[in-house]
Amino acid sequence: MKINEHFLQLKDSYLFATVGRKTAAYKAAHPDKDVIRLSIGDVTLPLAPVVIEAMHKAVDDMSHKETFKGYGPDQYCYGYEALIDSIKRSYARKGVALASSEVFISDGAKSDCGNILDIFSDDNVVLVPDPVYPVYLDTNVMAGRKIVFADATEENGFLPMPDDSVKADIIYICSPNNPTGAAYTREQLKAWVDHARARDAVILYDAAYEHFVTDDKFARSIYEVEGAKECAIELCSYSKTAGFTGVRCGYTIVPEALVRQGVSLNKLWARRQSTKFNGVSYITQMGAAAVFTDCGERQIADNINYYRRNAKIIADCLDSLGIWYTGGKNSPYIWLKCPNGMSSWEFFDYLLENAQVVGTPGSGFGKNGEGFFRLTAFGSEENTRKACARIKALLQK
Ligand code: MLT
Repeated sequence: MKINEHFLQLKDSYLFATVGRKTAAYKAAHPDKDVIRLSIGDVTLPLAPVVIEAMHKAVDDMSHKETFKGYGPDQYCYGYEALIDSIKRSYARKGVALASSEVFISDGAKSDCGNILDIFSDDNVVLVPDPVYPVYLDTNVMAGRKIVFADATEENGFLPMPDDSVKADIIYICSPNNPTGAAYTREQLKAWVDHARARDAVILYDAAYEHFVTDDKFARSIYEVEGAKECAIELCSYSKTAGFTGVRCGYTIVPEALVRQGVSLNKLWARRQSTKFNGVSYITQMGAAAVFTDCGERQIADNINYYRRNAKIIADCLDSLGIWYTGGKNSPYIWLKCPNGMSSWEFFDYLLENAQVVGTPGSGFGKNGEGFFRLTAFGSEENTRKACARIKALLQK
C-alpha cells in the first residue's frame, strides 16, 4: 500500500481550520471576552420562509407511501426537474439559455470545484490566481498537477488578466472574487474567454457570489460572454445566495458545446457523477427549487441586501480610517491592506487581542495576500457594527 504522497505537499491544515483553532485558543484563555467572528464566510440569517415552506412540504411527501421518494431521477444525475427548471429560468433572466442536460445538481460549489478535476488528465497545467480560495489550489496539489499562478496585486486591483506567455490548460476564475471581493467586467471576462479558446484551455468559473453583483457592468454568469459555452464550466451555489451553507446545495453547468479531443465534457461529467455521486436529498432540492421563484427571489434579495448593508458598514469604517481595500461593493468580502505595515498574521493577532475581532489573514490565500486581511459581511448587523466600532477605536489611537 502506498499513500498519495501529494498530500504531503499540503499545508498542515486548511486555512479556516487554523483560524478556528487560534480563535478557540484565545477564547479558552479569555472566557470573559466577547469575540466577534468576521472570518469564514458563513451566513447568519435563517432560510427564507418560502424555502422552509417547500422543505416542510417535501418532508410531508416523504411521510406518505404515495409521494415518498427514494433516489432522485437518474435522467439528470439525480436532479429533480422542478429544481433544474428553476435554475434554467434564473439563467434565462441573465439572457443565458440552458438545456436541462447542462445543469448538474450537487451538494455545493466547494465539492464540485475539486470533483470536476476527475474528468481532466493529471498532466494538465492549472492556472490559479494568487491570492486564491484554497480549495482550487489544494485539490490540484492532491492530484499532483503542475500549478502556475496569476498574480493578483494592489497594482492590478487584484484582477489579473491573461498573459499569453503562460501556458495553462485549466484556468480557475472566481468573480466576484473570494477572497479579494474584486469583480471582472464583461470586457475583462471576454479577454479570458478569448485566451482560453485560443489555447483549447477550459475555464472553471466559480460564480458563488454572483447574487452580490449590483453594478450592471459585471457579469453574473460567464455565459453572458460570447464564446464561453465552448470553453467554460460554471460552478454555483445556494450557500451565499440563499443561506444554504448548512443545508448544502449547488449546481454546475457543463455546456453541451464544450468538447475537447472530440469528447463531450458534459458526457464525461455525467458519467463521473452517476458513478461517484447519488444526488442531493429530495427535501434539500425542493427547498432550493423555491429559491428562484418570484417570491423566493424577493425573499433572498432581502437577505442579500442585509449582508450588503453590513459590507457598507465595514467599507465606511475603513474609509473613515483611510485604509485601502477592494470589494465591499458587488461582493460580501472586504479585502483590506493591513495598517502600519503589519503582516497578515500580525494584524490577525493584533485585532483578536485588542478588539476581539476575528478576520482571515490574507497570506493564508497565497503569497500576494501577505500584508492584506479579509473581513466578511455575513455576520449579524449588530456584530458588524460592534466590530467596526472596536476597529475604529483601536486604529484611530
Ligand atoms: C470562505 O470563507 O472563504 C468560504 O466560506 C469558504 C467556502 O465557501 O467554502
